[in-house]
Amino acid sequence: MTLPAPQGADAAFGETIAERLAVHWPRFEARLKTVYGDREDWVELAADLRARVEAAAYARPEPLRALDAEREAAPAWLSQPGQSVYTFYVDRFAGTLAGVRDRLGYLEDLGVRWLHPLPLLAAREGDSDGGFAVADYRRVEPRLGSMEDLRDLADDLRGRGMGLILDVVCNHTAREHAWAERARAGDRAYRDYYITVSEAEARDRDAELIDVFPDTAPGSFTPDAEMGGQVWTTFYPFQWDLNYANPAVFAEMLDVLVFLAGQGVQGFRLDSAPFLWKAKGTTCRNLPQAYAIVEAWRAALSIIAPSVVLVAEAIESLADVLPFFGHDGPGCDLAYNNVVMTALWGALADQDAAVVRRCLAAALDKPSRAAWLNYVRCHDDVIWNALADYAPREDLRRWSDFYGGGAGFSHGRAFQTAPGGVPSTNGMAASLAGLAPGEGPQTPGAARLRLLYGILHALDGWPLVYMGDEIALGDDVHYRDDPLRAGDGRWLHRPLMDWDRAQARHDADGLPGATFADFRQLGRAARELAAQGVRGPSVPIDLGVGAALAFSRVEGAPFLCVANLSDHEIAAGLPEPFAGPCMDLLSGSSRSGPTVELPPYGLVWLKAAR
Ligand code: GLC
Repeated sequence: MTLPAPQGADAAFGETIAERLAVHWPRFEARLKTVYGDREDWVELAADLRARVEAAAYARPEPLRALDAEREAAPAWLSQPGQSVYTFYVDRFAGTLAGVRDRLGYLEDLGVRWLHPLPLLAAREGDSDGGFAVADYRRVEPRLGSMEDLRDLADDLRGRGMGLILDVVCNHTAREHAWAERARAGDRAYRDYYITVSEAEARDRDAELIDVFPDTAPGSFTPDAEMGGQVWTTFYPFQWDLNYANPAVFAEMLDVLVFLAGQGVQGFRLDSAPFLWKAKGTTCRNLPQAYAIVEAWRAALSIIAPSVVLVAEAIESLADVLPFFGHDGPGCDLAYNNVVMTALWGALADQDAAVVRRCLAAALDKPSRAAWLNYVRCHDDVIWNALADYAPREDLRRWSDFYGGGAGFSHGRAFQTAPGGVPSTNGMAASLAGLAPGEGPQTPGAARLRLLYGILHALDGWPLVYMGDEIALGDDVHYRDDPLRAGDGRWLHRPLMDWDRAQARHDADGLPGATFADFRQLGRAARELAAQGVRGPSVPIDLGVGAALAFSRVEGAPFLCVANLSDHEIAAGLPEPFAGPCMDLLSGSSRSGPTVELPPYGLVWLKAAR
């Protein structure tokens, strides 16, 4: 039963909400029932959630309703080329949220459409895993600004036709979060927000789980005297996993999403989504309930704030990532395409595209309503183990040595891995691509960086630019001097933005300027894809030349991207219709002929004339 519309609610809006409820509520209920349906209080629980969702839908701030209506009416907006994302730590990029607003001109110049600042909500003091240990989901980290600053940024972006994506660290809170404090003080209701087990059970479970930080945070449990046992902590000991077996936790996090959406946030990165559900006898990753929880959040937001997108952060094998897009209906709208990202680096090391083709073929299983978030680098390590379904272990080991162990052109560093795994790799894209400090734009390293981002922008999905890559910013080796960061090698690729270097972007002869110009051109070319009507998934094509990575997109206008992953020239035969007259959307020149010749690390984006 639907609640009567609150007094004063506008009738048309009431009808809209009723329509949304009719479409999305049954899905919300059905998916959540697979998680909580066996509980005695399921009926009351569903009724309580229904009331919350309806109230939240009516409370949707007026200025945000237009965007909701617009995206609801044209869901294909999600798959339009040209939706590039810029991701950064607020403090490392611009100091504060107000500082970010001052830099919007720079970002518009670059041509990005979305901003994804890494976690910016109030974190615990001291080490907070880069903000991923949240102490208060309703307050901005005071060092970075206030909730008002966040709203101002969101409004400013919306006014420019841009959007803001925030991290919601939904798997765990900081030990200092009020829920944890109450739990530690003995409040039974809050005790049940977390998972506390005996020492013996912790030992048994640890034997089943795969450590995320085996060197710096071994095991998944942390003793806590106040909690009277071992608290579940998948990541660092100060990050306490939430207990989603308790529906109050699900409801709290839904409230958090609604609250932040109400500030004008247009997307959420669901941090560590694979870990949301725990069950004995499993690795506690990617369990069906984790997918169902995310789908229920999607359904609720489709009623309350339909313009908001959900991004799955699941750095897992594709078989485990794909279900985040939803089972027979919507789940996350986007997911990190980590398998293709990792394969690109591997292929670049081997100068052989085969592994990328395998991954692109597997990525075709994504439902068409959702989109990939394509990237080369982010704030985390490159996890080779997640590629295990698509490459033999010897290859993973070779790439790990190549990028992190000094066996190839890269200047990256190895990162911790669980026993039996292959070490991950840290380093900025420029450094992994082989650029040494002081090198210029006419070097193989610069060409590799350009090539990787050129491929990203041609793939179906949203390309993500990691802060600094647009000016070929290198590693931050000084992190080791900071006691709070020295223990976590990922800080190697979380440098301070170098604004002097960014200023040098106006000099097209230098590396920063040449790289920035390339990125800007890629953004423009990606928007041109949309203008030309290029749509549909990236279908890999084997051109019979090892170093040639080719994929076509043929829904709408016929498009073919061919990239040379090697340091030598190649010539490759083109399939129809690309042997006929084509326009290279990158260079703007036209061409025709059955063979394409590519210089080392060269790239073409061919749009066939018919
Ligand atoms: C995600 C984040 C990572 C963080 C972890 C724990 O994987 O990307 O940086 O350490 O979650 O929150």
